[in-house]
Amino acid sequence: MKYKCPICNEELTIKDKIMICPNNHSFDRAKSGYFNLFITNSTNHGDNDNMANARRDFLNKDYYLPLKQEIINILNSYNFNNLVDLACGEGYYTKDFPVEDKCGIDLSKKAITIASKQDKSSQYIISSIFKTPLYDESIDCITTIFAPIAIDEIRRLLKPEGIFILVNPGIEHLYELKQAIYDNPYKNEEYSFDFENLTLVNIHKVEGKMHLNSNEDIKNLFTMTPYYLKTSRNDAAKLDSIDSMEITYDFNIYIFKKDA
Ligand SMILES: C[S@@+](CC[C@H](N)C(=O)[O-])C[C@H]1O[C@@H](n2cnc3c(N)ncnc32)[C@H](O)[C@@H]1O
Ligand SMILES: [Zn+2]
Repeated sequence: MKYKCPICNEELTIKDKIMICPNNHSFDRAKSGYFNLFITNSTNHGDNDNMANARRDFLNKDYYLPLKQEIINILNSYNFNNLVDLACGEGYYTKDFPVEDKCGIDLSKKAITIASKQDKSSQYIISSIFKTPLYDESIDCITTIFAPIAIDEIRRLLKPEGIFILVNPGIEHLYELKQAIYDNPYKNEEYSFDFENLTLVNIHKVEGKMHLNSNEDIKNLFTMTPYYLKTSRNDAAKLDSIDSMEITYDFNIYIFKKDA
């Protein structure tokens, strides 16, 4: 796929260890292989190091493999030339997507460093998902897994009849973890999506139980979720004494097709 310069919008070419545009704006390739094309002064830097490390350690134990396998099955039923994983995190899903030309985008430097160290089959880019260095109508498939939905950008990037795959937690997802932390746990909301110029073509549900057998895994799961940022120290400390837990996973995979 083609990348555009975040300063002047001209096409970037990869030459050895840099990406460079005709106006000589150049971006160094990091040792692990990613390019940093984020040039805005913003206070949003994506997930912090703790969250990225926790997610890498938890996901690498394949607790969410049934979800990854289902997305791979969906991708195998199409024949995409290229794919962009928006807010790819540490690349746990991106790395195994069966698409030749694929790119993972995230704002977290830590997450992108982990992703590009673990996976040489995808190009990783530091950028906001709300302003990506990619061309209009150039992408066959976009994925967004547990992340903000940059719908205007998704509509801009997808080719006509391109596919958008969205993964969100279902109602029961991680309910036992919330029960262990909160006095009054609540279940997740049921979402319904209505995106202009995109038609919902299918929903796949992936549900089951995971058996977490160490305090480290339980803490890593907690740290990689949004609860980590909004739970009091006292409530979070309730997890300190728990060494095993059976926890429900409940994922909804929505498949949308862009209008022709
Ligand atoms: C819950 S994580 C999910 C990561 C990955 N999709 C996964 O499921 O393993 C959400 C990710 O969104 C990223 N993120 C949040 N806001 C972003 C933005 N504006 N641009 C790019 N990435 C963003 C965070 O850095 C984080 O890696
Ligand atoms: Zn330029």
